[in-house]
Amino acid sequence: MANYIILPFLHYLMSFSEILLNWYYINKRDLPWRSTNNIYFIWVSEIILQQTRVEQGLSYYNKFIKNFPDIFSLANASEENVLKTWQGLGYYTRARNMHAAAKQIVEDHNGIIPASYNEIIKIRGIGKYTAAAILSFGYNLPYPVLDGNVKRVVSRYFAIKNDISLPETEIKLRKKLDALFDKNKPADFNQAIMEFGALYCKPGIPDCTNCIFKEKCKAFTEGKVMEIPFNPSKTKISQRFFYYVIPQCDKTKTTFTYLVKREKKDIWKNMFEFPLIELDHDSTIENFFKSSEFKKIFSGNSVKFISASQVIVHKLSHQLIRARYIHIKIQKEINYPGFIKVLNNEFKNYPVSRLIEKYLKDENLFNL
Ligand code: ADE
Repeated sequence: MANYIILPFLHYLMSFSEILLNWYYINKRDLPWRSTNNIYFIWVSEIILQQTRVEQGLSYYNKFIKNFPDIFSLANASEENVLKTWQGLGYYTRARNMHAAAKQIVEDHNGIIPASYNEIIKIRGIGKYTAAAILSFGYNLPYPVLDGNVKRVVSRYFAIKNDISLPETEIKLRKKLDALFDKNKPADFNQAIMEFGALYCKPGIPDCTNCIFKEKCKAFTEGKVMEIPFNPSKTKISQRFFYYVIPQCDKTKTTFTYLVKREKKDIWKNMFEFPLIELDHDSTIENFFKSSEFKKIFSGNSVKFISASQVIVHKLSHQLIRARYIHIKIQKEINYPGFIKVLNNEFKNYPVSRLIEKYLKDENLFNL
């Protein structure tokens, strides 16, 4: 990567913003949301990019704006359609919030995303970061963004060793960032500092000896890059044990299975899944069939075991799910609260988690 064209000694004479923008104009990636004035597209891109990296975000961004080309089409879409478009990105609350926000913007602002901080911050799913991102990228207003990448750059640049997860550290970083911010080029400055954090000042060991800030970065000159940002409160990961039952009934002409909508306040709310029995421990298949949870649903039916998958480990940000899929044959249809009979060829219309989607694709099931 051509890192910079200005001779390093000139960096002594240049401001942070001048050095950064000079780097950015040479090294930036050509991304569709950087060359549009469509505020709705900018908003969509920012929400997607909070969830995933640019490489994966691109295809979701294109799919999202194709399915919902403007805020009105998003507001009028069904929740299932929105979740289906989001499927695989995870953290589905963001998609539900976007849907609610689109309705809010149509109702309260005639479909125009407001250009004022006090108004935009009231919109569902828009916090401090997204507000600053939309206002700067979309309206060129002088609000600096402070996301994870920017926090890393600023804390290293000033060698701030405070716990990065604390609110008082964020206040400190905001003050420092304000001092670096270029009010004349808010959009470019924000894109540039995020890009620099994502591409150069990476977590772990960046290439500091070739960095554009090697003369000015306090963490580098004091030899503390490895210690900053400091984050002692690593989030605790909880384990969950999911047993998905995939019932097939061959007594009827059409082949079908059952799905259940997840309605509780939990991961994957309002998405669909096979009948789930969640235990608080790993279980053998034999013991699983003996469990009261299984019997509650399937007693009264004649159940034949077909096969069970290996344990599939699925990592989320705060949870580790150990899932197994248990295929069974049943004699008669199930009539159980919440169970939806789904014909095999209609299965693909239901939004499901990536955990389920991946299994079905790997096993070539339900035409996914
Ligand atoms: N991450 C968050 N917003 C971004 C943007 N506009 N470009 C690249 N990465 C981002």
